[in-house]
Amino acid sequence: MCYRTWMRPSRQLADLLSSRLVPSRFLASQLRRPTGRFGRWILARGLNDGNAEQIAATLDALDLDGTDSFLDVGFGGGRALRLASRKTRGALYGIDFSPDMVARGHRVFADLCAEGRLDLISADVSDLPLRSELVDAVITTNTIYFWPDLPRALRELFRVLVPGGRIAFGFSGREKLAGFGNITKHGFTTFEPGDLERALVEAGFAAVETRALDGELTRGDFVTVARRFERDPT
Ligand SMILES: C[S@@+](CC[C@H](N)C(=O)[O-])C[C@H]1O[C@@H](n2cnc3c(N)ncnc32)[C@H](O)[C@@H]1O
Repeated sequence: MCYRTWMRPSRQLADLLSSRLVPSRFLASQLRRPTGRFGRWILARGLNDGNAEQIAATLDALDLDGTDSFLDVGFGGGRALRLASRKTRGALYGIDFSPDMVARGHRVFADLCAEGRLDLISADVSDLPLRSELVDAVITTNTIYFWPDLPRALRELFRVLVPGGRIAFGFSGREKLAGFGNITKHGFTTFEPGDLERALVEAGFAAVETRALDGELTRGDFVTVARRFERDPT
């Protein structure tokens, strides 16, 4: 089947999610880990388009300055990395446990990689191959549903943030995801903001705040921001 003939890449992710042409179990597994031609040609672009509003809101919540170093966990199509590269001259890192997304990223971001500004790595959030206290800001959007051990992942993210660093999560709440129950029943873990906030506090984060989004495509989505404590000067 030639995917390009029946679905233009610019179509919204919502169309893909409600399409009867794509089996829901297949789509769920692709959302968890985009692979192959479908992942590279269709889903990566669908994610960039369909999640654009949520990604922009989550990135805004980090309030990057011109020198912040930045990590995107589960970067998928890479939209947040591209936007962040325009906001900061600091080092950029992308982690994704799909080798196909990382390979695609190396092509799409050949310019940034060649300049030595961006490092893309295939790895699991629970075991980040990054040194401690590396980055000022972390973003992760539409990923937490797939993390098998949220407390462990949050401890890893805490470890790689500098003291005073911040992290922003963009995600759809339980009620919104219930509307895609035919897909999310295939192994998604759903969250309400309070679930994530409690887990963040248990992992040592502070100043945890959540904002509900209300755009055309983001109604039912949330952005949760947290900080790693400054190191005690004594
Ligand atoms: C639904 S896509 C979201 C992509 C992008 N962040 C967005 O909002 O459009 C989920 C992405 O997270 C990655 N991912 C899922 N679980 C992961 C894990 N445990 N560690 C690292 N990446 C993961 C997948 O490979 C996929 O690229």
